[in-house]
Amino acid sequence: MYIAIMGYGVVGSGVAAVLAMNKDSVTGKCRGDYPQVKYILDLRSFPGDPFEDKVISDFNIIAGDADVEIVVETMGGLHPAYEFVSACLKAGKSVVTSNKELVAMKGFELLETAKENNVSFMFEASVGGGIPVIRPIYQCLVANDIQLVAGILNGTTNFILSKMINENMDFGAALRLAQDNGYAEKDPSADVDGLDACRKICILASLCFGSHIYPDSVYTKGIRDITLKDVEYAGAFGGVVKLIALAEKKEDGRVALSVSPAIVRNGHQLACTGDVFNAVLVRGNAVGDVVFYGAGAGKLPTASAVVADVIDCVRSKGTKPFGWEKAKAGIVVSAGEITSRYLVRVEGDSDEVKKEIAGVATADSFITLGDGYTAFVTEEISLDGLEALSETLKVNIISTLKIMDF
Ligand code: HSE
Repeated sequence: MYIAIMGYGVVGSGVAAVLAMNKDSVTGKCRGDYPQVKYILDLRSFPGDPFEDKVISDFNIIAGDADVEIVVETMGGLHPAYEFVSACLKAGKSVVTSNKELVAMKGFELLETAKENNVSFMFEASVGGGIPVIRPIYQCLVANDIQLVAGILNGTTNFILSKMINENMDFGAALRLAQDNGYAEKDPSADVDGLDACRKICILASLCFGSHIYPDSVYTKGIRDITLKDVEYAGAFGGVVKLIALAEKKEDGRVALSVSPAIVRNGHQLACTGDVFNAVLVRGNAVGDVVFYGAGAGKLPTASAVVADVIDCVRSKGTKPFGWEKAKAGIVVSAGEITSRYLVRVEGDSDEVKKEIAGVATADSFITLGDGYTAFVTEEISLDGLEALSETLKVNIISTLKIMDF
């Protein structure tokens, strides 16, 4: 059986490498039907690469070749990935992708197109890189009513925060190190502003709650404003700052989603997830909390998930029984209504400042470190309520950090 790979960057070349590295075991797992790479679509050439003779630049060759049964899309971005994937599905080819932007924006349409053409659209690698999370949710946890899914879904920001927490490095220096190590792009905004994590939580939430959830409906705040003082006060509170992507089902059936820096209590698995690693917590009403941990990015870990999907397509043809419905109006809780407790840090540590904040928080939650600030913990409050607090308090609020209740 033949496959094609569209996009021969880090992940695409990893897919070819994993297939070659594990050829014998993959052949066995595919009952002798090894998925042979017939074409690699890329506008660049790769002299000296073991697959250089497979490289083509015309997508129509893949779309028009009936021998190619599975197409791997590792190009990234929405266009032309969407048009190419859609054309492949319509041509009766299953598609496996690692492209989170594509799944977050076009997942419902592409799942429908796959169904109409009796093929599969699979995307295990789109969230958490090599960590198995999509398939465990739709297979192993299918008996549960999922109540919450939360995670550290972006390795670059987790690397930056880990450097700030463990090595007292400021945000700028940690970002430069992430860029030097090849984690963050030259323009790091998709990572540090939370968009990448937002796309991933949309995919998880769509899968867990059954309705397509689009990134523009999710309250998203990145880590650009996090300072070493925030890290220090979070430490004094007993936790660490992490970029947490969260989707929680409310009693009325709506889903509250957010991506924001938040304090996770020391000792929790998510607090212990450092460096570029990712972790995903899923809370089911039967199973309780389950945490998945591992390499959320990188050539071979991400390729591991892509190749697993390819093998799944070889082993069982036709449409896989998973997906979600089209976006349901009103399913997403509006940003201002999302509630949480917060660690609020204000300017000043005088008795007057403490008297002012005593009206909104109990004194046993006050944290002072002798550096001219006072921090306190709010009750469960909405984002609108937090906004109103900053207008009514007669002290200057420096920062607010969400506190996770797990
Ligand atoms: N930029 C992403 C990250 C890559 O840092 O996690 C994997 O999706």
